[in-house]
Amino acid sequence: MKAEIAAILLAAGALAAPSEKAPRKSAAACSSAVKLDASTNVWTKYKLHPNTFYRSEVNAAVEAMSDSSLKSKAAKVADVGSFLWLDSIANIAKFDDAISDLPCENILGLVIYDLPGRDCAAKASNGELAYNEISKYKSQYIDPIVAKLKANPNSAFALIIEPDSLPNLVTNADLTTCRQSKSAYEEGVAYALKQLNLPNVVMYIDAGHGGWLGWDANLKPGAEELAKVYKNAGSPKQVRGFATNIAGWNAWDLSPGEFSSASDAKYNSCQNEKTYVQKFGAALKTAGHPNHAIVDTGRNAVTGLREEWGNWCNVNGAGFGVRPTSSTGDSLADAFVWGKPGGESDGTSDSSATRYDSFCGKPDAFQPSPEAGEWNQAYFEMLLQNAKPSF
Ligand code: GLC
Repeated sequence: MKAEIAAILLAAGALAAPSEKAPRKSAAACSSAVKLDASTNVWTKYKLHPNTFYRSEVNAAVEAMSDSSLKSKAAKVADVGSFLWLDSIANIAKFDDAISDLPCENILGLVIYDLPGRDCAAKASNGELAYNEISKYKSQYIDPIVAKLKANPNSAFALIIEPDSLPNLVTNADLTTCRQSKSAYEEGVAYALKQLNLPNVVMYIDAGHGGWLGWDANLKPGAEELAKVYKNAGSPKQVRGFATNIAGWNAWDLSPGEFSSASDAKYNSCQNEKTYVQKFGAALKTAGHPNHAIVDTGRNAVTGLREEWGNWCNVNGAGFGVRPTSSTGDSLADAFVWGKPGGESDGTSDSSATRYDSFCGKPDAFQPSPEAGEWNQAYFEMLLQNAKPSF
């Protein structure tokens, strides 16, 4: 019921008159072509854009609240920069709204996320393309995005390339679905990197998180997998490095790390994301891949919530983390970003749904939760209450 109300309010928010929105600047005001130098940290110059899509989700959430002090805190979330997920061919259309109010000093963050056979090791985010639809991925997904980026040469874009895809090839190759998807993932990511290699774009390839490719046995194969695909793409110069903790929960520099006393901790020397960025970054360098990182801090404020490190779905008790910034205190970490838009679900808890994944029914997963990507008002309010720093 709550979800239905939120959906109606969301639609209303999306139609709100421009006067109801925060002051905007038009992209037309940017008079010269953007040339991003991917050998430098572009986040020192550009701020992650609070995109209109998340802004309208948050504005609708504010309307659905009655507590006035919570409402005023929630309203501030609309001004936080976050990545916009282009998670289907139809949703490429979200780009047009997002670009319409992009100030020159902001960078629009986009997540490229529609590979054939997407989410091969889980069910919650299975995509629209079958594993053998690589030509559709190229012509109907990547090519139209490339056209839009080329049509906006005076705007800056940061791209996160295909969350979970290459990490799944490294650690879940035993699953039939991941085996079937292997060639489409490698060909698709290489195609994306090659075609999206534009002067106004900087790219980060997803590398999971410390609890995934951070295991000692995974560091080298993981780095080599990313490097192989990057080289197959012709080593595109706008690739800056890798993205970690996207839609994840790991703390940046908690020490000892959250799972440091687990019985298998001795096999993982990357117990927090900072160490993971350093160690995976070093492995990438050896493998011949650019090695600067962006790290998702959108939902990692609270630790000690997960029963197991691998639990990824709608973690209960979570809070909004550090706001996007280039002040990371670490030379390999370009920026903390909000990758996952907090409030959007990771997956449905309805066990009768086709995309139900058992991780979303675990005791540490917030329930009820709607389908992946759909708004969960109660979860958003929880993230807000538990935010660190608070709003
Ligand atoms: C999930 C969903 C996707 C959504 C994204 C951000 O992975 O599958 O549809 O856009 O999260 O919320």
